[in-house]
Amino acid sequence: MLKRTHKCTELTKDNIGQEVVINGWVQKTRNKGSIIFTDVRDISGIMQVIFETPDINDEEFAIAGDLHSEYVVAVKGILRERSGEFNKDLKTGELEIRATNLEILSKSEPLPFPVENESKTKEELRLKYRYLDLRRRDLTNNLILRSEVCTCVRNFLKDNSFLEIETPILNRSTPEGARDYLVPSRVNSGEFYALPQSPQLFKQLLMCSGYDRYYQIAKCFRDEDLRADRQPEFTQIDMEMSFVDEDDVIELNSRLLKHLFKEILDIDIAYPIRKMKWIDAMNDYGIDKPDLRFDMKIVDLGDVVKDCGFGVFEDAIKNGGLVRGINAKTLGSLGRKQIDKLVDFVKDFRAKGLAYIAIDEEGNIKSSFAKFVSEDKMKEIISAMNGENGDLLLIVADEFKVVCDSLGNLRNHVADMAGLIDKDKFEFVWITDFPLFEYSIEEQRLMAMHHPFTMLKDEDIDLLKTSPEKVRAKAYDIVLNGCELGGGSVRINNPDIQSQMLEILGFTKERAEESFGFLLEAFKYGVPPHAGLAYGLDRLIMIMSGAESIRDVMAFPKNKDARCLMSMAPNKVDDKQLQELGIKIDNEIKEN
Ligand code: AMO
Ligand code: AMP
Repeated sequence: MLKRTHKCTELTKDNIGQEVVINGWVQKTRNKGSIIFTDVRDISGIMQVIFETPDINDEEFAIAGDLHSEYVVAVKGILRERSGEFNKDLKTGELEIRATNLEILSKSEPLPFPVENESKTKEELRLKYRYLDLRRRDLTNNLILRSEVCTCVRNFLKDNSFLEIETPILNRSTPEGARDYLVPSRVNSGEFYALPQSPQLFKQLLMCSGYDRYYQIAKCFRDEDLRADRQPEFTQIDMEMSFVDEDDVIELNSRLLKHLFKEILDIDIAYPIRKMKWIDAMNDYGIDKPDLRFDMKIVDLGDVVKDCGFGVFEDAIKNGGLVRGINAKTLGSLGRKQIDKLVDFVKDFRAKGLAYIAIDEEGNIKSSFAKFVSEDKMKEIISAMNGENGDLLLIVADEFKVVCDSLGNLRNHVADMAGLIDKDKFEFVWITDFPLFEYSIEEQRLMAMHHPFTMLKDEDIDLLKTSPEKVRAKAYDIVLNGCELGGGSVRINNPDIQSQMLEILGFTKERAEESFGFLLEAFKYGVPPHAGLAYGLDRLIMIMSGAESIRDVMAFPKNKDARCLMSMAPNKVDDKQLQELGIKIDNEIKEN
């Protein structure tokens, strides 16, 4: 085989005149009779090759005439400046190889779809032939970026005294959090392992063992409903540190992010990264992961509307609720139908309605509640919301959570509609002072907002017994452009507080013992104060690369039904395999 001397884009004008060999795939080939132009692609990019006699002998010229897309070839030739027009879109657009030798290393059948950037082929088909789709430049770039990010993170953490330690994949199922993926045990028939949702307990035990600073690029598994930023199997950059508090973790990770964005994207992020208390995020943005690439803060209208004459607003205030709104700049001329769509949008977040004031460019006002309030009151509301010509003011009246959820999500939605989001911006923010618990309507009980091992604020300790819902946690999230990139907390290292915490979460002593006994036991034997954090690596790469979905930054993702369309996992297994595991499949499921 003709062994390569260079990858395609390693060749520059400095190599002109040299004899070189490239290896790669035929991207496309144009046969003009006496001359053949072929683009050869390798991991680095594309190089144009010219086949013409007498540079190449008749026999090999004939072979070149039979080239088709995706054949694997080796080409030897002399590097020249392009004889035809330069191609500004290609790194090698001013160069070409005049071939002297050609070898076909492997042929290809016609592909089910073309390998091209921003592919228009349906995602289902591309996932079925993922190995072909991965030949695309966009996806290749994403995976190269991912690898570079991992290397950069590893080097940074090594330089900051972290040890990379692996934790097990086959674990004990523990309650709380998402649903577990279970793996039946053959040796211990009737029993199951659970795949880790995160290495949380193990990293805390490593701190207990004295490993001071741990990290791992860890595979995590969660059986939850999938979305663009969620996969059943995903990767965390997971870390834990001993003898530190909240500020130390935030400081180290701020430095990590600053370093990473400089090294990989040559971007100077705003530093120090700003911090925002959870309650301020909720009040100003309605959401605990605010997108700070645009302004549009939520305005509280309680004082202005408490006696405005509009029952919906007045009643909300009387019942201890809120009336708040946002000013969607430039959307004042939206038609009735489009406004109705916004009303439907907030209904998904349990809002009962959406009141609006639309001010067109001439200053004409249309409002869904004008008939209930005086003209002066209307002016007052508009002024409180800084309403100007061309603005659309959107108002929700309800309890705190509904107002926040609906306006927080609506804010993102209308900013997108109004084109207010600068895709080139990277706006980080640390959200701190989360509540320790949140009330689950589904389960009708308090649940840990982060997880049951999260420490509370020292000053809130007396509230734990009397009003746990008011207790704040030493927990923090790192948010980037409205996406929760990572989260972590200071952990409880006091067995009494840990027991109280589990009690509030509804664990009996026996169930706590059964679920986390090994951790509670370990904490009897000298456990340092410790804290940590985990990033969603896939989400980080998605934002850094500008990809639309985390599927585009994973080599082999699953579809929305948690299925791999290439290998068709999950699949049915032999009766013999099931027998060994002592498992019987319900007849009804079998038939379905
Ligand atoms: P948490 O559950 O917040 O914390 O997870 C940390 C980060 O992991 C990412 N992530 C996901 N990414 C893709 N698909 C998913 N299904 C998915 N679920 C989570 C998010 C999230 O911010 N052990 C704690 C961390 C700690 O306290 O140290 C934990 O797992 O970006
Ligand atoms: P109605 O009197 O129910 O027709 O409501 C008048 C206007 O108030 C409509 O635009 C409704 O969408 C809006 N509205 C109703 N309930 C609420 C609410 N809880 N918050 C904000 N607007 C509401």
